[in-house]
Amino acid sequence: MNVLLFGATGMIGQGVLRECLLDDRVDSVLAVVRRPLGFSHPKLRELVHRDFTDFSSVAGEFADIDACFFCLGVSSAGLSAEEYRRITYDYTLAAARALPARPGLTFTYVSGEGTDSTERGRSAWARVKGRTENDLLAMPFHTYVFRPGYIHPLHGARSRTPLYRRLYAASSWLYPLLRRVAPKYVTTTEALGRAMLAVAERGGTGEHVLHSPEINGAAADRRP
Ligand SMILES: NC(=O)c1ccc[n+]([C@@H]2O[C@H](COP(=O)([O-])OP(=O)(O)OC[C@H]3O[C@@H](n4cnc5c(N)ncnc54)[C@H](OP(=O)(O)O)[C@@H]3O)[C@@H](O)[C@H]2O)c1
Repeated sequence: MNVLLFGATGMIGQGVLRECLLDDRVDSVLAVVRRPLGFSHPKLRELVHRDFTDFSSVAGEFADIDACFFCLGVSSAGLSAEEYRRITYDYTLAAARALPARPGLTFTYVSGEGTDSTERGRSAWARVKGRTENDLLAMPFHTYVFRPGYIHPLHGARSRTPLYRRLYAASSWLYPLLRRVAPKYVTTTEALGRAMLAVAERGGTGEHVLHSPEINGAAADRRP
């Protein structure tokens, strides 16, 4: 499997990249980044790109991919509505539109718990995520949407968002408790990576919108 990865420098993307590089069934990973990853691996190639609203100049690089894992994204906190929509919706759809028309190609999008599929609710961020999901699900490839709640970072994955880094540092002791009392809302960066690989092999079958329990279930089927 040839994987195209967006957001490889982020917390989820680091976890997904790790699982891809460890998995024998992954032949190559092409990471599209705006700054270098800072490490190399025989299966990994990085493509530093500037304009995430337009991938037409590099779309030729995507010709052989089988699966796109889109882990790029931001919290809406502190951003204008326009900036949040640009990063969440415009960047994602620009990447999706640059993909080749290959049979069986899958696109997995990291959305979030609380996303508003009706696009009519009161929460602006949830409407933007909902529109992003809906437009991806209508694209001519197999889209899988992941809606995780709390994500526990494993194997050194670190958030790019300073506030989240502080929150994770202060709350990591809570994870075992959360896993016991609210297992439906908890997953890990490792499970997200393994679940992405699992759904990429489903070829369009199964659930297309996965919350934490389905993510954890798919990950369990995909232990290396
Ligand atoms: N963390 C959670 O608990 C959680 C839970 C549910 C859903 N999610 C969703 O998962 C997604 C990723 O979360 P995360 O925790 O991995 O975030 P993160 O650690 O902050 O990483 C964000 C990633 O997006 C990239 N990015 C952000 N702004 C960009 C821009 N303007 N241009 C190009 N790249 C940009 C970052 O690249 P740089 O390194 O270049 O900045 C980085 O790779 C988000 O959509 C988030 O809503 C997260």
